[in-house]
Amino acid sequence: MNVYDSARMADVLAPIGYGPTDDPADADMVIINTCHIREKAAEKTYSELGRLRQLQERKAARGGRMLLAVAGCVAQAEGAEILARAPFVDMVFGPQAYHRLPELVARVHRGRAGGGVLDTDFPAVTKFDELPAARPAPGPTAFLTVQEGCDKFCTFCVVPYTRGAEYGRPPEAVLAEAQALVDQGVMEITLLGQNVNAYHGTAADGRSWSLAALVGALAEIDGLARIRYTTSHPRDMSADLLAAHRDCGKLMPYLHLPAQAGSDRVLQAMNRRYSAAEYLEAVADLRAARPDIALSGDFIVGFPGESDADFEATLALVRAAGYAQAYSFKYSRRPGTPAAELPDQVPEDVKAERLDALQELLNHQQATFNRGMEGRTLPVLLERQGRQAGQLLGRSPYMQAVHVDAGPERLGRIAEVEITAGLANSLAGRLAATTADAAA
Ligand code: 5AD
Ligand code: SF4
Repeated sequence: MNVYDSARMADVLAPIGYGPTDDPADADMVIINTCHIREKAAEKTYSELGRLRQLQERKAARGGRMLLAVAGCVAQAEGAEILARAPFVDMVFGPQAYHRLPELVARVHRGRAGGGVLDTDFPAVTKFDELPAARPAPGPTAFLTVQEGCDKFCTFCVVPYTRGAEYGRPPEAVLAEAQALVDQGVMEITLLGQNVNAYHGTAADGRSWSLAALVGALAEIDGLARIRYTTSHPRDMSADLLAAHRDCGKLMPYLHLPAQAGSDRVLQAMNRRYSAAEYLEAVADLRAARPDIALSGDFIVGFPGESDADFEATLALVRAAGYAQAYSFKYSRRPGTPAAELPDQVPEDVKAERLDALQELLNHQQATFNRGMEGRTLPVLLERQGRQAGQLLGRSPYMQAVHVDAGPERLGRIAEVEITAGLANSLAGRLAATTADAAA
């Protein structure tokens, strides 16, 4: 979602004369869009600021000026602290305030005698009402935020505090944004939300739309070939969404469905509100609806009180569910969250051992999944130039990166690709005979 937010910041800054540059040393403004989810991500803010300060000083020595801004969830959670620790920062603003960037820039230019400008309000008017309707397409694939915030309050997680309460955008606004992207050649849209499958948007006629209804309407847009959504909560895999996976060919057979842990005791302490058996039932329902669906997940090891047996239960869940891809993390104690106060915090070395064991299993599953693609022909959306000349990089329906020997004229199109190698982190292939002939 930070990628989407950063693009929207660029959109609101364009009318006041800012455009992107590849060279931060020469920039008139640098915005760090931050993540607060784990301590390590949050700490990067300060190390990055130290680096940027040098660029800022060098530019000032040349008689120029570089505005420095901190955006995102670290700004939301630690705004005042950032300004105290890094007084050279000009602007600090949260995820719900970035549509006001032109106003913040003006305030900085009027003079910043009182120090940097801070905006971490959750405004009554949503930023989505203020953001420009037109937005340039980033390429053949695009993110589109449909839902933001979270009401689930998992005990380890900062999101309900930094992104705020759940909000679903009106379906008309989402459909208009999607149509405008498709008009510019976008073929794949990933709907974003912290809790995207809990999406509820109120239409102009007062009716409430579910995510499945939204997917159904998006599928009717000519030229839009692929729809994805992320991230989902297992509790919100509703019957209509399962039906969409069964019936909607444009909905890709790949789902990020975080389990977090496999022990019921830990799941309960995390306030996840499902048991391991219920999670596996959701997976079985998905596979019944769409037999080729591939799963991705998130896992946390070393949640407070997690025993060896609890951790074994996570491994057992991974074996039972089977993942094409997954992210796993050591539990990170986040100030202000309920779990941070729990007794029995797990020692770092135990967390590290468990993470190694879990990642070994997940890597094995991923490699097996990728190897299973060898010899198959898959539709690949060719997104960008590959590292080597004569090569393009694309995505399979299952989100695998695919290196394809193909010329640049095929960029932004879907090609049938014969998979010649299934590697640990990617696939390699060549245009299937039929596709190659069609172009000849
Ligand atoms: N420690 C470790 N991982 C976390 N996540 C969220 N909060 C924490 C935390 N305190 C992970 C979860 C979530 C993903 C986005 O980040 O697995 O699904
Ligand atoms: Fe955080 Fe996701 Fe839980 Fe919401 S559902 S609190 S975003 S982990």
